[in-house]
Amino acid sequence: MIVCSGLCKSFGATAALADVTLELRAGELVAVVGPSGCGKTTLLRILAGLLEADAGEVARSGRVVYMPQGDSLLPWRRTLANVTVGLELAGVADARGRARAELERFGLAGFERRFPRELSGGMRQRAALLRSFLAPSDALLLDEPFAALDALTREELREWLLEVWQAQRRSVLMVTHDVEEAAFLADRVYVLSARPARVRGIVDVSPVRPREPEQLLGPSREIRALLREEHPVKGHRRASRTVTPAP
Ligand SMILES: Nc1ncnc2c1ncn2[C@@H]1O[C@H](COP(=O)(O)OP(=O)(O)O)[C@@H](O)[C@H]1O
Ligand SMILES: [Mg+2]
Repeated sequence: MIVCSGLCKSFGATAALADVTLELRAGELVAVVGPSGCGKTTLLRILAGLLEADAGEVARSGRVVYMPQGDSLLPWRRTLANVTVGLELAGVADARGRARAELERFGLAGFERRFPRELSGGMRQRAALLRSFLAPSDALLLDEPFAALDALTREELREWLLEVWQAQRRSVLMVTHDVEEAAFLADRVYVLSARPARVRGIVDVSPVRPREPEQLLGPSREIRALLREEHPVKGHRRASRTVTPAP
């Protein structure tokens, strides 16, 4: 689906990525976790083909849709006209009909004539996600899709994202700095170091879904341990059961 290896990228003197290798296979939900400013957006932009790496390879099969950080809705378009943008660009017939059929599932029924400023943060985020899910694609790259939301809305939306993903079985790669979100959603979590981003480790999460809060504890602990590896806490022991060291 999407495979990259040895990606390096610098902006002038700022090194953002140092040798990043990862893969997203068909139908997988993969998370990338890393501290803020480490190079996550840079990585997604390279995977989406919007930015050129200095070194390394990216192989993509099929169509890739990238959802940037922030909802990026067009303020002058009503909700329905916003969510059909991807369909229109792809030249899909009856874009509005296709979008209307999904409004209910995305919690937007009755709000199709509202402008983005008339929607709550959670609804704007769902509209941006509906737009991304409607655009024809084989893989979706989501950049911190819930970052701007309060904790309660985040929890609602991640459950909802899981349902939509399970119904559609699209390949999804999402960037987040929320450890529990990654442990709740992903099949596999790539943990990045501080800038320049390197893959510190890969945590495979059990395929059980939906996951109960106590099932998130183990993977969350492993992800945190990898995130902290550069600043080891006294007495800390690295969990190793499902952690694959980065190649
Ligand atoms: N277009 C750019 N020009 C210069 N520096 C950039 C550019 N894009 C990103 N950077 C720098 O690269 C680093 C990683 O940024 P980014 O990928 O946005 O991190 P993250 O998404 O993990 O917060 C930051 O130091 C940022 O300032
Ligand atoms: Mg970012």
